[in-house]
Parts: sequence; structure tokens; C-alpha cells
Amino acid sequence: MSNYLLIYRDILRINLEMALQNGELSKDQLLDSQAHIWNHIYSYINSMSLKCAVQLKIPDIINRHGSPMLLSELVKALGINKERTPFVYRLMRILIHSGFFLKQTVSTTPGDNDEEGGEGYLLAPASRLLLKEDPLSLRSYLLAAMDPVMLDPWQQMSKWFQNDDVTPFYTTHGKMFWDMASQESKLNQFFNEAMASDSRLVTSVILKHCGSVFEAIDSIVDVGGGTGTVVEAIAKAFPNIRCINFDLPHVVDGLVGTKNLSYVGGDMFEAIPKADAVFLKWILHDWSDEECMKILKRCREAIPSKENGGKLIIIDMVLKVDEGENDLLKTQLFLDMCMMTLVTGRERSEKEWAKLFFDAGFSDYKITPVLGLRSLIEVYPS
Ligand SMILES: C[S@@+](CC[C@H](N)C(=O)[O-])C[C@H]1O[C@@H](n2cnc3c(N)ncnc32)[C@H](O)[C@@H]1O
Repeated sequence: MSNYLLIYRDILRINLEMALQNGELSKDQLLDSQAHIWNHIYSYINSMSLKCAVQLKIPDIINRHGSPMLLSELVKALGINKERTPFVYRLMRILIHSGFFLKQTVSTTPGDNDEEGGEGYLLAPASRLLLKEDPLSLRSYLLAAMDPVMLDPWQQMSKWFQNDDVTPFYTTHGKMFWDMASQESKLNQFFNEAMASDSRLVTSVILKHCGSVFEAIDSIVDVGGGTGTVVEAIAKAFPNIRCINFDLPHVVDGLVGTKNLSYVGGDMFEAIPKADAVFLKWILHDWSDEECMKILKRCREAIPSKENGGKLIIIDMVLKVDEGENDLLKTQLFLDMCMMTLVTGRERSEKEWAKLFFDAGFSDYKITPVLGLRSLIEVYPS
């Protein structure tokens, strides 16, 4: 480099350093901030890459293979053009980085598969829950949560802040989520299936680790119980409990009960079938405080007093706001934003839950944090 260029470069560097000293950011802060912003701009690539892999059934293909699967084998099983091989490699690379797949050395003939480095893909534990046939699969939940109907409202969020619409979902689709679900059978179906998949997982944990919450009750009504996944499991595990699955008519239409399980259509803001216990899984977070008060009052009317065994069993989040920054809180805050964007609800801290319960006339509650992001909350009337 000529002396002239060296001097020019030094002048540029000195100018930059002076500018940074006069401003608020050091060089490291400036570049870290840029990286932080880029990370957030492109975070959607995590979810979109995962959605693509699930739509292509990559977890199922690798699982069926039964041993570390070479890239060439994966491309062949995908039944796509061989020319796509380098792109599949790059999709898999980011999903390995995000913890959905693992790489393991495969014993191959020397010289073979050199371009693949003799490594094959395996499922990481999280991908087990993305298998189509796994009983606890979250595949349908993922596909529903990432359907354009659910994602489009995010593009309208700033517009919504500036108008008077109830939700960004309304700004986008011109109707409320529950109305649209009642009118569009495809949305109704994939949403109910998504909820059922979440319920299968949650119920498996509850029945195994806190089945005692169902002891000493003779009847239970699952309010907003969707297509009945939770009560079906309770009815099977506790044949002496009379179970009711209560939801909007379009959700329960055509569902057939059993000896100790019935399906009832109705509106929880109007009246709730009577039972010893009311079960509310992922209901109250869908609604504002004012709407929750109405639901809780209908619940109170449906159950007997505490001495006579009356209680609510709620599955919902308790925001871990006091525990500082961690992945759990971040995910809870994601869900809080979803409730703001799609419906009129919110996630709540323990203090906010307690206020709701006491304002609605309940006298006591107990939180059991056994469900990872969510908790089991028992609420007692006076
Ligand atoms: C987030 S989903 C939860 C479903 C189920 N509890 C679960 O966790 O799998 C909310 C449920 O509330 C139901 N819902 C909405 N408005 C309702 C109303 N006014 N009366 C009864 N159910 C209602 C919906 O149809 C939906 O099934």
C-alpha cells in the first residue's frame, strides 16, 4: 500500500474514533448493537426454517431412516431435484445450529461421500415432538401458529396502535378471531387440532404428576375445552367422574360422548354447566381483565362452595417477571404479544392473577408450577 493510502486510512480511522468518542457508543457497542438488531430482524428465519422442515416432513424422514442419514440420502427421500442438495444442506445447517438436529459420523467406504464429510443427520430431542405420528406431536400446533391467517396481523400492528380496532387480527381480517373460526371451517379445524395437540402433551404431564387435583370431585366441566382432549383423558383415568366438555356450538357439533363424558355447546359468557370443578385450560389468557371477570363469575355460579368441593382448575402462564432475563420469560412474553395481536387477552403475573380471583369473589388460590411455561392454578370459592 502506498504511503499516501496508509495516511488516508489512518485519517479515516482517527475520524471514526473521534466521532464515536463524541457520540454515545464505543466501537464495540456500535458493532454489538448492529449485531443485536440484525439478530432480531432475522429471528423469523428460525421459525420459517423450522416450518419448512416440518412441511417437508424432514423429522419424519430422518426418524424413519433409523440411523444417521447422509445428506444425499435425505435429498433422495425428500423426492426433490438433486440440484437442491446444497440448499437442503444449508437448511439443515441452521436447524442443527438451533438445536433441532444433530450430526454424527457415519462409517463409509473411504473416498465415498467426501463432500458430506461422512456425517449423517439425527433428530435432537425437540424434533421428536415434531414427528407427525408421535402421540405428543406439536406439528399441528406449529403449522397453525405459523399459518398466514395468524402471521398477517403482525404486519398491521403499528397501524392498529394508531386506529381504534380491538385487535391487529381485526385490522387485518375485519373480524374477531373467534367469529372467523366459527365461519371458516378450515381455520376452525386446524386451530382445534393445534389446541388438541397441546392438550395431549399437557394432559399427559398433569395426569402423571398431579392427578390428585381430580381426586374428591364427582364432576368436572372443561370450559372452552375445544374438541375434548382433556376431558376424554380425565374420563378414562377417573371413570367415576362425570365429565362435560363445554365449548362454542361449532366446535362441539357432531362430537359423541361416552358413559361418563358429554359434549355441550354454549357461550361461557352466558352460562356454564354445573359441576364440582371447572377446568379452564388456556382460556383466561385469551381475554381482557373485564372479560375474565365475566367468565369467572359464570364459573363461580357453576360450582358449589369450597366445603362442598367446589374449585377451578386453571392451566395458564404465570409471568416470571421477577426472575430477570431468561428464555422462559422471553417465550412467555412472545405469548403475551400473541394474545395482544390475535385476541383481546394477555399473560399475567401472580399479582395480576390474584387480583382477578379476589375481584371475582374467590377467596384463595394455589399455584403449582409443574408445566414448564405454564402452571396449574387451583382457585377456591369462599
Ligand atoms: C385457546 S383455545 C383452548 C382450547 C382448550 N382449552 C385447550 O387448551 O386445548 C380457547 C377455546 O375457547 C373456546 N371459546 C371461545 N369463546 C368461547 C365462548 N364464548 N364460550 C365457550 N367457549 C369459547 C374456543 O372455541 C376454544 O376452543
